[in-house]
Amino acid sequence: MKIGKTLVSADEIEAKLTEMGAAITRDYEGKDLLLVGILKGAFVVMADLARHITIPVEFDFMAVSSYGSATKSSGVVRILKDLDQEIENRHVLIVEDIVDTGLTLHYLLKNLSVRRPASLSLAALLIKDGVERPPLEIKYEGFHIPPEFVIGYGLDYEGKYRNLPYVAVVDSVD
Ligand code: IMP
Ligand code: MG
Repeated sequence: MKIGKTLVSADEIEAKLTEMGAAITRDYEGKDLLLVGILKGAFVVMADLARHITIPVEFDFMAVSSYGSATKSSGVVRILKDLDQEIENRHVLIVEDIVDTGLTLHYLLKNLSVRRPASLSLAALLIKDGVERPPLEIKYEGFHIPPEFVIGYGLDYEGKYRNLPYVAVVDSVD
């Protein structure tokens, strides 16, 4: 595998997370906010985004795996790790690395809304354009990118490259 063209640089990510963090700070001022990161990919976004939020927040994580091939989502989601905390009457913000088919978030919204949070919203660093997906309102969004397979900043190819500080396309697979 070769690392291809950089789609979003480390500086661009930093600037965007600064904006997103400021918006979240403004919107949740005076509220009890729980950030829910979706493992593993979102751990990098979660860590960097949270440091641009200046109100007190709590963290929780879920780990999910979607059945299907390595690069194609099937829509059937399995919860590998559930939340540690109850979310009833709490303001919950789900933090995701990327929205591709949207099936993971669609499922998580359904699953978590049953627990009756005070509010349930979405933040995602990357949104793939040109992909058909169920309607999803992403309240805090980072960058729209072409529907290519990308790596870096939490996103992996066969478990690796999550540590790249930028987002790049995969050039060739061999
Ligand atoms: P979904 O298709 O929106 O349900 O995306 C599910 C998950 O697939 C995301 O949270 C990512 O972990 C992973 N994923 C989607 N697109 C990419 C990609 O381009 N590179 C790496 N992982 C991806
Ligand atoms: Mg993910």
